[in-house]
Amino acid sequence: MTDGPTDPVSIRLLPLTSKVDGDGRLSVGGVDLVSLAEEEGTPLFVYDEEHLRVRCREAVEAWGEGVAYATKAFLCVAMAKLASEEGMHLDVSTGGELHTVLAAGVPPDQLVFHGNNKSDEELATALQVGVGRIVVDSFDEIDRLERLVGDAETPVRPRVLARITPGVEVHTHEFVRTGQDDSKFGFGLHAGAAAAAVDRLRGLDAAGVVEFVGIHAHLGSQVFAIAPFVQAVEVLAGFFAPLGLPELVVGGGLGVPYLNREEAPPMAQWARAVREACTRAGIDPSVRVTAEPGRSIVAAAALTLYRVGTIKDVPRYRTYVSIDGGMSDNPRPVLYGSGYEAFLPREAAADRTLPIRLVGKHCESGDVLVSEGHVPADLAVGDIVATPVTGAYGHSMASNYNKVPRPPVVFVRDGVARTVVRRETLDDLLRLDV
Ligand code: LLP
Repeated sequence: MTDGPTDPVSIRLLPLTSKVDGDGRLSVGGVDLVSLAEEEGTPLFVYDEEHLRVRCREAVEAWGEGVAYATKAFLCVAMAKLASEEGMHLDVSTGGELHTVLAAGVPPDQLVFHGNNKSDEELATALQVGVGRIVVDSFDEIDRLERLVGDAETPVRPRVLARITPGVEVHTHEFVRTGQDDSKFGFGLHAGAAAAAVDRLRGLDAAGVVEFVGIHAHLGSQVFAIAPFVQAVEVLAGFFAPLGLPELVVGGGLGVPYLNREEAPPMAQWARAVREACTRAGIDPSVRVTAEPGRSIVAAAALTLYRVGTIKDVPRYRTYVSIDGGMSDNPRPVLYGSGYEAFLPREAAADRTLPIRLVGKHCESGDVLVSEGHVPADLAVGDIVATPVTGAYGHSMASNYNKVPRPPVVFVRDGVARTVVRRETLDDLLRLDV
């Protein structure tokens, strides 16, 4: 066993281009991480651009045309451009995400618009720019869409999918489960809402208001097993196949390992299992079966660099190591109890024999990044400490709690570090005050 909590951080958790040199120092994309932290300051999100591109290509190869990157996992102009350049479509779920991807120059036809409460304004913008697909989520939204299409100055006929909750529960945190019957998302299959939504959309299709192209179902996030996806296809097939629609989207949700001991299936295996389940369930081979992964594209592409400010031994309990970020740049441990590894990029291959609790600088005890972490025994104040697999739902869920400025995002590739989101300044924190 070389992947225990006191072993060096597993290479499987690090970005693809990670290299440990003879002195034990870690570089990513040919850039030494300790030096980068010295130059750019901390906290710092570092993304391996090659890793991002490889994962996008894998998604396109596994799922084919139409596979969409779920931008909620991590979005900035550079990321939107990158995913689009690599042939992915993009899934947006708010007007803000839509605005960002349009600013990045992503062709609107490559966009999928989600959301359980799209406003008039958001839908009108989507229609006006001509987003590729709208995934409708409620009867109110269908009414709204019908009215807005009728009111449009230039004729529009959006392609729509209906989001269905198939009643499949996945074993993941309650907050990120979405496919169960008791859900705010979509039309319930078992409650009959799905059938009623399909009737309405078929009517609107016949009337030329929308083009009803498919069914969508998203089960949840950080799902480690393939079985629930297969089960969802089995449950959906009886409903979907007779409709004769050309598209079926199984959502996102493929899990990723965060800890040395964790493992998750690769993208290709996920896609293959879903496709095979579709074939077995009698879904026509001409149907475009696709997905919208977020986390599995970006999570392991990044790590966060922090600087250690204080080390406090609390006798009989533990050693608290405080860094210069915390729940404002990574709220996942607080929200979902998520686990992370911690290590020192200056000695990435060293055993981590010192048990610690890695905590942030925010004014609450819950501000914990790694509850039961381990680092090399020579950890000292001033060290750069890294948490890997922070590329998904970290930057995108960051806040200014305690008026802490949000960290910048740097893409590294071929020995060059490129800042794609700059660090917030103290003045930025006052920008909205009037
Ligand atoms: N499609 C839909 C409709 C979604 O709601 C989501 C995620 C995805 C795709 C992408 O799922 P992924 O492949 O990233 O698992 N903040 C939570 C995760 C929330 C996921 C929300 N929806 C976390 O940090 O774990």
